[in-house]
Amino acid sequence: MKILVTGGAGFIGSAVVRLAITRGHAIVNLDALTYAACLDNVASVADHPDYHFEQADIRDRVALDAVFARHQPDAVMHLAAESHVDRSIDGPGTFIETNITGTYNMLEAARAYWETRSRPDTFRFHHISTDEVFGSLPNDLAQRFTENTPYDPRSPYSASKASSDHLVRAWHETYGLPVVLTNCSNNYGPFHFPEKLIPVIILNALAGKPLPIYGDGSNIRDWLYVEDHADALLRVLEVGAPGRSYAIGGENEHSNLELVQMLCAILDQKRPKADGSYAEQIQFVTDRPGHDARYAIDPTRIRAELGWRPSVTLAEGLEKTVQWYLDNEIWWRALQDRAGVGKRLGVSG
Ligand SMILES: NC(=O)c1ccc[n+]([C@@H]2O[C@H](COP(=O)([O-])OP(=O)(O)OC[C@H]3O[C@@H](n4cnc5c(N)ncnc54)[C@H](O)[C@@H]3O)[C@@H](O)[C@H]2O)c1
Repeated sequence: MKILVTGGAGFIGSAVVRLAITRGHAIVNLDALTYAACLDNVASVADHPDYHFEQADIRDRVALDAVFARHQPDAVMHLAAESHVDRSIDGPGTFIETNITGTYNMLEAARAYWETRSRPDTFRFHHISTDEVFGSLPNDLAQRFTENTPYDPRSPYSASKASSDHLVRAWHETYGLPVVLTNCSNNYGPFHFPEKLIPVIILNALAGKPLPIYGDGSNIRDWLYVEDHADALLRVLEVGAPGRSYAIGGENEHSNLELVQMLCAILDQKRPKADGSYAEQIQFVTDRPGHDARYAIDPTRIRAELGWRPSVTLAEGLEKTVQWYLDNEIWWRALQDRAGVGKRLGVSG
């Protein structure tokens, strides 16, 4: 299958690109190369004859039409987005433009292309979204997000993603575009941009800096290894039912404090300090405004209907991730100079 992947130079998109190429798909990677992108993320497949890169912005409809015409894809996997909640608090405008208008442009470009080809049933528009559109759960383990959970976004980021989900469903209902949607929990793993919690903790620990934890560290997230997410996404693309959505999660709920303590324990083993534990560097900082208390996914549908399961436990995935950051200093050092990285963002609310 020839897949047009948007955002393929980012964290999750690049994992999709790498996996799809190894599975025999042809890839067109469309990315604007914003601050969050890194083409080194796809260096391992960049010379493959079935890999093509197009620098284009999803806010530019004309550019999108040209990419569809030039490459004639069988499917779209739409991951391009502004993705950092803290940045959405400081500057929501870009999130509205890219996540909402950009998705609208992608839908219209895909629809025009699909209609010129006589609306093939086999075409897919896969919209990749987040569990954050469902809002915040109480600390009651019986309650988890499913595909039927009402939308209740609470940050500019999650509201923009929720809007894009609604547009994608509307294009299916109104125009018959064969879409699939996924809403995934927090990802972690190799090539995670060094402004997100897990890389911040690993890199600050190694630099002897404080390990910042928002509020009291009790916020709970449900963690999934990025390569398992990429595998789930390809499975949904290949065998998911048009018009259907799938909630994806690792069933690995931990508070941020627990997660940071796990990372410190791994670092203590792999790169012991001369004295003491990395956990002594933990520092509680001002909370994020409107910080969602808990996310948790019930992945029953994707397990039962598509037979998907994560391949690694959280302990295995975190161990692999820490080792990857220890082995890839050249990758993350270069990104630490980018605007906003290493700064506290999103406190203006
Ligand atoms: N990171 C997570 O834990 C998580 C969880 C669930 C869902 N998601 C969703 O998965 C997708 C990918 O997330 P990520 O963490 O890899 O994000 P990321 O920020 O690492 O990468 C986003 C990519 O999109 C590109 N991009 C941004 N604006 C663009 C534009 N206007 N035109 C073209 N390209 C543009 C960037 O250059 C970058 O390469 C997003 O849609 C996000 O909402 C993320």
